Formats: sequence, structure tokens, C-alpha cells
Amino acid sequence: MSNAIKIVIIAPMREPPAQINSEQWMIDPNITYLNHGSFGARTVDIYETQLAYKKQFESSPVHFLDRQRHLVHNARKVVAAFVGAEEAGFGFVENATTGVGSVMHSLELSKHDEILTTNHVYNGVRQLIKHHCQQNNLLYREVDIQVPILSSEAILASLDENITSSTKLLVIDHVSSSTSVVFPILEIVKLCRNRGILVLVDGAHAPGMLNLDIDALAPDWYVANLHKWVCAPLGAAFVWAKECHRKSIHPMTISHWHDEGIHAEFDWQGTRDISAWLTSADAVRAGDFYGWSRIREHNHQMVLWMQDQLLDAWGVESLTPLDGSMLGSMATVPLPQGAPSDIETCLAVRDYLYEKHAIEVPVIPFHGRGMVRISCQLYSKPVDITVLISAIKEIKS
Ligand SMILES: Cc1ncc(COP(=O)(O)O)c(C=O)c1O
Repeated sequence: MSNAIKIVIIAPMREPPAQINSEQWMIDPNITYLNHGSFGARTVDIYETQLAYKKQFESSPVHFLDRQRHLVHNARKVVAAFVGAEEAGFGFVENATTGVGSVMHSLELSKHDEILTTNHVYNGVRQLIKHHCQQNNLLYREVDIQVPILSSEAILASLDENITSSTKLLVIDHVSSSTSVVFPILEIVKLCRNRGILVLVDGAHAPGMLNLDIDALAPDWYVANLHKWVCAPLGAAFVWAKECHRKSIHPMTISHWHDEGIHAEFDWQGTRDISAWLTSADAVRAGDFYGWSRIREHNHQMVLWMQDQLLDAWGVESLTPLDGSMLGSMATVPLPQGAPSDIETCLAVRDYLYEKHAIEVPVIPFHGRGMVRISCQLYSKPVDITVLISAIKEIKS
């Protein structure tokens, strides 16, 4: 008989959280909507609030855009306080990609300096940084952080090992898109400080999902979306810069107020619809009504419970520790063995799930394995995961 000790990891027995009765959502209730992470979702109330701003604009366009700039100032104040960011470093942008773009343009790096990121980087951001590196003779490299991730320490050790004398900037996700991992940002920022490199945090998913305190994290730059987990209208996002970078950062669209300071420059990026920015403050207040910590806890507990159901049904391993310490409101779970793993087939499965079963869920290849990413929001119901499990079972058989 072998003396080897077999370690059996047992998933904690969880219950789904009690429902919080929130506003009505715009999402069609006939869809099993497990993809809040891509473009968020709006309540009817927030949708109508944005329409009201649009109507105000249309009723007196010049007055609204030229003489009521205090509306943007007020919205900025509310959102900056919500994400714990000193307002002086905060500028609204249209999306996280644009925020990353404006940071890239503000960099003063030399030929052959390296920008480092990880293999968990969002592909759109990957393309943007690679393009910037090609254009400016910079080096681009990704640290391979293998899944499953056993601990925050494992991530920190990989990053530490990979920073070289050429590395000048680390671009790191706060919550990764395809793998849903919540990275240990506070420790990563400290590591970058100790190693003398700059750090840009891509927090596209963080506001509304995590209890965010940007001032406490103190990165060089932080970019994030409000149209995902704050449930603001599309086109609401921001970039934040540390004091020493505030003079050098500019929006992608340079206009009248060039070099007049971050607020003046970012508030006016040419004539545009500012209703999403204004409504983002209303979305913050709407969450205050239910309590943001209560919303976050509901979504976190629901996604952990749903993840348990998938792990159990598919007999697969979790990408992150089962206690949920590296997850927010999303989880990525490998499909059962033998499931498709190439991008075309994953997309075909995603589309089939929508067309045949009215399930919206991303099916993504990562590390040569097909995976699904589930997202939970106040509208999520335990039955959503049962519907997904039986649809995948039907495809398999
Ligand atoms: C980590 C991450 N970064 C950046 C983005 C890009 O966001 P946007 O398309 O709003 O610019 C996303 C989108 O899902 C993301 O998940």
C-alpha cells in the first residue's frame, strides 16, 4: 500500500445570497444574462436619467454645453470620491482603452525601454501597447502567469522575477478580463516602487465591483470604466494620474484647453455627448441607495456559488483559490474535458448558446483550454447557472 497522502480539496458548501430587490433593469428578462462584464447593464431609472440629460441638451444646446460646465465638475466630484481618487488627478474619458491610450501618449521613454504586462492583459489593450512600442522603438513583453493561480504571492514572485533593468513600466489589470482574477494591486504597486518602475493599473472592471481607494493604492496612473460595474451609460470612464504626471497627461483628442490642466483638457475633448459622464454620478448615487458594499457582497457571493455549481457539474479545477479571495463579481471556469479550445469554435459555442438557449455568456480560450466567464449582478438568479449547465450538457451529448 502506498504511503502517499492524498489531499482532497473540498469546495465550501455555499448557499446563493438572498435577492436584493433593485430597480428594474433594461436587460430582456427572457435572456439568461451572464455577461455583465462586457458592457455592463443599466437600470430603467439610469437609462431614463441619461435621456433626460439628452433632452436638456437638445432643448438648448449651446446653453447646456457652454454655460453649464458645472454639471461635469459636479459629476467628477461624485465619481472621484466614489473611487477614492484625489479629484485633481481625475479626467473623464469615453472608455478604458482611450484612458490607456492617453497614458501611452504621455510616456517619456527611451529607445529599447521595455513595457511589461502579463498574459492576462485585455487583448485590445495588448494591441494598443504593442503598437505604441513598435512606433516608439520600445520593447514589449508579457509575463506568463500560469493558471490555476494558487496565491497572490505566486503572482508577485513572477512579476518580481521578470522585471529587468530595461523594464520601465508595468501595465497590470486590477481584474483581468478573460480570467476574472483580482490581482493584488496594492502589493504590485509597492513592488514597482521598490524596483523603480512606473505602474499603470487597468481597472476597467474595478469600480462598483471592488471597494476602490485609488489614493491608497497610489499607482502612477489608473484607468477604469464606469459603464461596467457602476452600471453607468456607455461612454463613462476615467483616467487618474498621480501628481507628478498631471502636467504631462493629455486626452487623446487635444482641443482648446491644451496645457490648461487635467480638468480643463479632459472636460473638453471636442464637441461630444457628455450625458454618460453626467449620469455616472447618478449611477453612483443609485448604488448608494442599496449600499455599494451590500451590492458587491451579493454579486461576489452569487458568483462564488455559481462557480461551485460549474466546478461540481463539470469536474474541473478552479482558476483561483476556492475561498474567493482572488475573485470579485466574475469567475472564469474551464469547460469540461474535450470541449472546444480554439477561438472560432469557442465563438461558435457562444453564439449557439445565445441563439438556441438565449444564454449570453462569453466562451473564451485561455492557455489552450475553452472556458466560460460568468458575471453576477443584482439581476442574477440561481436558476441562471442551472440553465447554462443543462445547455452545455446538451451540446456535449
Ligand atoms: C481589463 C480590461 N481592460 C480594458 C477593457 C476595454 O474597455 P473599453 O472597451 O470600455 O475600452 C476591458 C473591456 O472589457 C477590460 O476587460
